[in-house]
Amino acid sequence: MKIKVERVSPDKMKPKPTDESQLGFGKIFSDHFFHMKYVEKQGWHDAVIEGYHDLCLDPAAVCLHYGQLIFEGMKAYRGKNGSIYLFRPADNFKRMNDSAERLCMPTLDVDFTVDALKRLVMIEKEWIPKSSGASMYIRPTMIATEAFLGVKPAAEYTFFIIVGPVGPYYPQGFSPTKIFVTEEYVRAAQGGIGYCKAAGNYAASLLASKKAGEMGFTQVLWLDGVEHRYVEEVGTSNIFFLINDELITPPLAGTILPGVTRDSVLQIARKWGMKISERPISIDEVIDSAKKGTLQEAFASGTAAIVSPIGLFYYKGTEYSVNGGRIGQITEKLYNEILQIQYGEKDDPFGWRMKLSD
Ligand SMILES: Cc1ncc(COP(=O)(O)O)c(C=O)c1O
Repeated sequence: MKIKVERVSPDKMKPKPTDESQLGFGKIFSDHFFHMKYVEKQGWHDAVIEGYHDLCLDPAAVCLHYGQLIFEGMKAYRGKNGSIYLFRPADNFKRMNDSAERLCMPTLDVDFTVDALKRLVMIEKEWIPKSSGASMYIRPTMIATEAFLGVKPAAEYTFFIIVGPVGPYYPQGFSPTKIFVTEEYVRAAQGGIGYCKAAGNYAASLLASKKAGEMGFTQVLWLDGVEHRYVEEVGTSNIFFLINDELITPPLAGTILPGVTRDSVLQIARKWGMKISERPISIDEVIDSAKKGTLQEAFASGTAAIVSPIGLFYYKGTEYSVNGGRIGQITEKLYNEILQIQYGEKDDPFGWRMKLSD
């Protein structure tokens, strides 16, 4: 399929942010976006990169009622030498296809979609921030557009990619976070859509996050939906613990999003010769090890913040600090390693980086 490109004329382009320290996260969008349509029997068609504009949706569009809406999140990086990179973009589109299959939505041709993304990013390259830690956030999204109020998979869809400059996810930067362990709310259950990047998962998470935020915590720690005992994820990130020199993360058993950063952490740590376990870990084990002093480090992993240190857990009315509330050595080393690969500052033995320009 050919991609039609209709560039916005320079006099219609938006002013670019001048103060990169004030970018925030997810507030600014560039001049162009990519979109294409899908109709049953015809497949994907009408691929175009054109000026960013409102979508025109029938009020009966299925995505607005029954939540057939999936998305992805990744970034484009500008290295110190000016080169532009993507990080494992095909993995994001493969994950989007897993989400699509679970929500009875059409899948994407991964190579075609990576190519569309590369073209969009190159058209918008002036929007990629230059300062360290800033990047261009990429949000591929698929919505069911058929106008039909019946609970069945829609016959029509739109896929689009929007991009925009972002600063660090946490305004406070790379510093220890305070985590509220919720026993009241769950994010996902076995057999559900926890492993998908589906909009409904995020809507379901808002109340717990809001309450935790009001109490002064950074994020919520999600436990399993049956026993409220096993650790699953933290906020919208995967979670790791370093206990007795063993790097532990919960297994991908259907309720957890298979993070691209999670996989990158595991591959790097394996290469470093660390002892790694993808195994169920109960909140009791975390708290016991915090009490005994064997909980050396804990961190979250995700595209937005890469690796984010955890300074304390609040569970059943008590605060348990991790590493005395200081950033752990392994956490910091992993953060720097991934950041430097993403920004082209060090060798990429895994072949994760995709260079778009010199
Ligand atoms: C629920 C959830 N878990 C984990 C992650 C981390 O995934 P990734 O490392 O691919 O960004 C994300 C972010 O995309 C997420 O939304």
